Amino acid sequence: MRRIGVGVIGCGVISKAYMTAMKRFPQIELKAVADMRSGPAQERGREFGVPGMRVDELLKLDDIEIVVNLTVPLAHTDVSLAVLNAGKHVHSEKPLGVDMVEARKVMELAERKGLRVGCAPDTFLGGGHQTARKLIDAGAIGTPVAGTAMFGCPGHERWHPAPGFYYLRGGGPMLDMGPYYITDLIQLLGPIASVMGSASRPRSERIVGNGPLKGTSIPVQVATHIAGTLEFASGAVISICMSFDVPKHMHAPIEIYGTEGSLLVPDPNRFGGNVMTANIGCDWQTQPHSHAHTEGEFRSIGVADMAAAIIGNRPHRASGALALHALEAMEAFQISSERGARIKLETTVERPAMLPAGLSDGQLD
Ligand SMILES: NC(=O)c1ccc[n+]([C@@H]2O[C@H](COP(=O)([O-])OP(=O)(O)OC[C@H]3O[C@@H](n4cnc5c(N)ncnc54)[C@H](O)[C@@H]3O)[C@@H](O)[C@H]2O)c1
Repeated sequence: MRRIGVGVIGCGVISKAYMTAMKRFPQIELKAVADMRSGPAQERGREFGVPGMRVDELLKLDDIEIVVNLTVPLAHTDVSLAVLNAGKHVHSEKPLGVDMVEARKVMELAERKGLRVGCAPDTFLGGGHQTARKLIDAGAIGTPVAGTAMFGCPGHERWHPAPGFYYLRGGGPMLDMGPYYITDLIQLLGPIASVMGSASRPRSERIVGNGPLKGTSIPVQVATHIAGTLEFASGAVISICMSFDVPKHMHAPIEIYGTEGSLLVPDPNRFGGNVMTANIGCDWQTQPHSHAHTEGEFRSIGVADMAAAIIGNRPHRASGALALHALEAMEAFQISSERGARIKLETTVERPAMLPAGLSDGQLD
């Protein structure tokens, strides 16, 4: 099988998870890494046995076809545009851009150049979420009509050594954690038609709790608690809450209610996890996983799927179009909150195809 050469730009906290998981996918091969700081690029390169270099050097390498953009959100658009201008496909960390204007620039350039855009999250390709998808498509809970999606924590400044970006434009719980939940909901239920939201920013500063910056104050420029509803084109209505203002809670990450039963979807920031269903009047049943990629870290499965799609000349699943639609929904919560109005979405997207059931880890076709 042809292996597609991959480069990584952005050698921070999450890069290690990506580069470790890349070894699990025979469709791709890491060739080089880069960062705007030479120290992290050299260090990650040494750790993974590839050269660490400057961004402009990496973009000139002929054996790299896909570049994975793991920079901070405010840099995503500029780095993705540079990758496309170098004639390479790009897979970006989420969000695709800090707003729709930025994200559209990436999609338009890719269209003009005939290149692919992929975007995190790719966790929806994990076995837990593909199993939930298979159950819904098989009618296990009847027709989905409603549900909930909940993420709440006290804030990433407790653990991240450089958490400033989580509270600047492009950060906040909706753009940081919303992509996992909303992307999974789109693959389960189809495109979103409209959004209503309410957003608040209870604190204007946060205190770093870990690493060399411990005790430092960081400014909060974005809403840190967002609640609202997603109305899907199918008619299903999902109540959603994404928050950095929750000390602790007991809600399931995602619950889907159908005409015949309910479905508990595992944490969309993970690949596996228990999938449970209950028909009306019955107890919860844990369902066996129908799909691979359930144990451990597979961040980069979306990159591997793009590589397989290039080779097989088919659409890739964690696509820019999917990320753009999710971003429009996420942005709409803030707009809806400010205007006090329901926001109809302009974009739409087809559900990415379900992965085949019964494959092994690392297999995609
Ligand atoms: N940390 C996590 O657990 C986690 C999980 C999932 C997704 N993410 C996402 O991954 C992205 C990166 O997060 P992180 O935690 O690794 O951040 P980080 O701050 O630890 O690392 C980002 C790296 O990008 C580099 N960088 C920034 N701008 C650049 C530019 N213009 N050109 C080249 N390099 C540049 C920085 O020097 C840094 O090394 C973010 O979008 C974040 O939302 C993070």
